[in-house]
Amino acid sequence: TEVLVLNGPNLGRLGSREPDVYGHLDHAALVDRVRGWAGQLGLRVEVRQSDDEAELVHWLHEAVDSRRDVVLNPAAFTHYSYALRDAAAQVTTGGLRLIEVHLSNPAARERFRHTSVIGGVATGTVAGFGVASYRLALHALAGE
Ligand code: DQA
Repeated sequence: TEVLVLNGPNLGRLGSREPDVYGHLDHAALVDRVRGWAGQLGLRVEVRQSDDEAELVHWLHEAVDSRRDVVLNPAAFTHYSYALRDAAAQVTTGGLRLIEVHLSNPAARERFRHTSVIGGVATGTVAGFGVASYRLALHALAGE
């Protein structure tokens, strides 16, 4: 199974960004962890991060065209990007899986984070386990 792991805006700032909420691991370390877990699970993985909504939309199109499953942390776009939702819907209606992940548990935070416009078109969601949210998503994709 080939998996595209996509991280949205501000996740490139992990490590220094609100460490009480998001932990001390930086994005490069997150990438290392994800690659290690994917290897153990026999998944081929590529990890990307962008602050740009259009770039994330294009990467979701690419996932559809290259037949790759997706682990998506849409970050703040979770809560309002219909463009990202429509792109995510093409993944799951195209017969591929898309797991929405969050480091924090948005349901336990500010009210504006309680809505996910992505959740309704995702295969499933993992939130609240820090970087282990990604590990759990990869396990789901590996069928373990
Ligand atoms: C996040 C949660 C979002 O509400 C927030 O905007 C983020 C990160 C998470 O991983 O916990 O940037 O997606």
